[in-house]
Amino acid sequence: MTHRFLISLFMGTFAKLKTEVLVYILGIESSCDDTAAAITGDTKILANIIANQQIHRHFGGVVPEWASRAHQQNIIPVVEVALQQANISKDQLHAIAFTRGPGLLGSLLVGTSFAKAFSLGLDIPLIDVDHLQAHILAHFIQKEDRQNTMPAFPFLCLTVSGGHTQIVLVTGHFEMKIIGHTLDDAAGETFDKAAKIMGLPYPGGPVIDQLAMEGNPNAFSFSESNIPGLNYSFSGLKTSFLYFLRDQLKKDAGFIENNKADLSASIQHCIVNSLLKKLIMASRQTGIREIAISGGVSANSYLQQMLRKTGEEMGWKIFIPAFSYSTDNAAMVAVTGYFKYLKGDFCGLDLVPYSRQG
Ligand code: KG4
Ligand code: ZN
Repeated sequence: MTHRFLISLFMGTFAKLKTEVLVYILGIESSCDDTAAAITGDTKILANIIANQQIHRHFGGVVPEWASRAHQQNIIPVVEVALQQANISKDQLHAIAFTRGPGLLGSLLVGTSFAKAFSLGLDIPLIDVDHLQAHILAHFIQKEDRQNTMPAFPFLCLTVSGGHTQIVLVTGHFEMKIIGHTLDDAAGETFDKAAKIMGLPYPGGPVIDQLAMEGNPNAFSFSESNIPGLNYSFSGLKTSFLYFLRDQLKKDAGFIENNKADLSASIQHCIVNSLLKKLIMASRQTGIREIAISGGVSANSYLQQMLRKTGEEMGWKIFIPAFSYSTDNAAMVAVTGYFKYLKGDFCGLDLVPYSRQG
């Protein structure tokens, strides 16, 4: 056997080993109003299934009682579909990861109880996952194009969702420090409340994003908060928006209807501007130019556009998750579960969910 042949034989085996999946994880997400199940093969997504709960649209926000009931109905079907799509049997799973919190307690209990029963039935490890860590670790999901587009440590991650707004300093997969956070409303909540004030359906973020595409971001200005440091505050902006509309409606009952696009573009501009201002400050303070965004609001097209522009000006390397991994999903839970699995970081059946971040 020639030397070259031996090398190519070895390389062939190595290539095969590299593409073989070593660990299959089932991820479960039920922290708010999406019931989701995903299956990962190492860091590759084999299935990512979400059952959205349309019922909340009628109420202008998530109704916790309805959310828990819908999770109970959806959880088994989403897991079954995920297994089918991944084309593996449940006996091939190495572990089950679930969102332990933060979120709505009744919703979390459904996913947690399901995961415990599944782990007990299959006799496989159970892994608890923090929802906000999972939003950040969504950046480590393997991309289809196989290009290495993952952030390198240390990086800053702006996590913007319906319940949270934080700037996180990430120095390792599980070494994260919150260096800035909102003192009142979250960015997503501000989008949703502004939409509600305009009579738009829930969730308002994507609706405002869409309407704003036809509007002028400088048509109206609202008072943005000016608190020092890296923290955020959005309650003043929301009140300023509310009072402005109340005054305009007194003069013209059709004001909202006639200015929907400009109002959407203007409030969106204020939110995004506030978000980026503190992110720039955080980058300057830490000297870190590896910048990621995550969470539902990271799907906002104007935020993405302004981040790209700021990134060019500041010399940042930026990371934006794919749409399906920005809003709530179980793929991010499964991939976080994978990293915990590698560390042997499992939890017991007595673990309880938490509604607020510790
Ligand atoms: O991360 P996520 O799906 O759930 C939570 O963990 O809260 O975030 C939901 C939030 C909602 O407030 C929703 O309005 C907002 O993300 N959102 C958006 C967009 N898509 C979702 N906000 C602005 N623009 C969007 N395109
Ligand atoms: Zn979320």
